[in-house]
Amino acid sequence: MTKALIYGTGSIGSVYGYILHKAGVDVTAICRSNYEAVSKNGITIHSALWGDVHYRPHVARSVEESSSHCPFDFILVCTKAFGGRETALALQQVVSPDTAIVVAQNGIEVEKEYHQLFPQNTIISGVVWLPASPVEPGVVKMGAMERIEMGTYPAHVGSQVKVEQLASLWTLGGGTPIVHQDIQAKRWEKLAVNCAFNPMGALSRCDGANLLLSSEMADETVMGVLREVSSVAAAVGYEPSERFVEENMACHRASKQTGGKEQSMLVDVKAGRPLEVEAIFGNTVRIAKEHGVQVPRLEMLFCLAQALNFSIQRPPGRWKPLMS
Ligand SMILES: NC(=O)c1ccc[n+]([C@@H]2O[C@H](COP(=O)([O-])OP(=O)(O)OC[C@H]3O[C@@H](n4cnc5c(N)ncnc54)[C@H](OP(=O)(O)O)[C@@H]3O)[C@@H](O)[C@H]2O)c1
Repeated sequence: MTKALIYGTGSIGSVYGYILHKAGVDVTAICRSNYEAVSKNGITIHSALWGDVHYRPHVARSVEESSSHCPFDFILVCTKAFGGRETALALQQVVSPDTAIVVAQNGIEVEKEYHQLFPQNTIISGVVWLPASPVEPGVVKMGAMERIEMGTYPAHVGSQVKVEQLASLWTLGGGTPIVHQDIQAKRWEKLAVNCAFNPMGALSRCDGANLLLSSEMADETVMGVLREVSSVAAAVGYEPSERFVEENMACHRASKQTGGKEQSMLVDVKAGRPLEVEAIFGNTVRIAKEHGVQVPRLEMLFCLAQALNFSIQRPPGRWKPLMS
């Protein structure tokens, strides 16, 4: 029987665990704040695609505890993209020679640490298109879209058979996988959307539609950010197609009539949670610098998003109280 470990059983991890469970995979879920709830009640998903569904994975409180269910064919990393190196190190005890590690996170170069630590293992990069949010511990709400684009990291390194096996399981479980020979092109496309809408939405507290409605400059500014990300992507050989940019913008422009959706960074700000600033902006600005690409809008957004993150986290010792 195929075995999978979900590391980070939040919104995405809960849904991905369900898809694999439905495909007949033996699923173990590492749970943190929702450990008690998931141990007692399992996981419930209110899905606009599948209705209300429920499953019971094996539940572990830590990587060490999950090791009783080894060996894992797949480990899905579904935490927010912070501290990839620490996560990779933590997973060492449950990664066997045949384990494929699936990095299902937003951002760019989020797979790098896993490939560095496990060069002989297949690393599968997963570009996630799935609107999902927590309702209460062990309960997740999911929108009417589920698509995962996947491929090895780096491209053409690792086992294509593993990617195809995961894609088959995904289909069997009712999901929609798309396999790419070089997934990075898709990762840059998703990154462009994240860079364009996430921080501006979070800083302005506007969903995508209201951001575009807020001033005449908003559309042009968003387009400017999309183009800057495209120019960085082009410098490393992956320019998002003009069609992708246009279709995405058309979708957001149409939402000015229907009402839009809050981007995940805004949701995190409202919940007082840390933001994925480094994975989305830090890496992009660094790659731009390495290739001599000018990205003034991205640098400004990176700086502001870092400041926003700083004010949310108020790191002890660094955050100074106001002068009395
Ligand atoms: N949600 C979406 O709509 C969406 C859409 C597309 C892409 N994504 C991307 O998908 C990734 C996952 O996002 P998400 O929305 O699923 O995040 P999430 O709801 O915050 O879930 C992350 C889960 O990881 C757990 N976790 C974090 N660190 C852990 C650790 N050290 N040990 C064990 N568990 C740990 C968290 O536990 P706690 O509850 O204890 O913090 C939480 O349950 C992100 O990169 C995000 O950008 C999300």
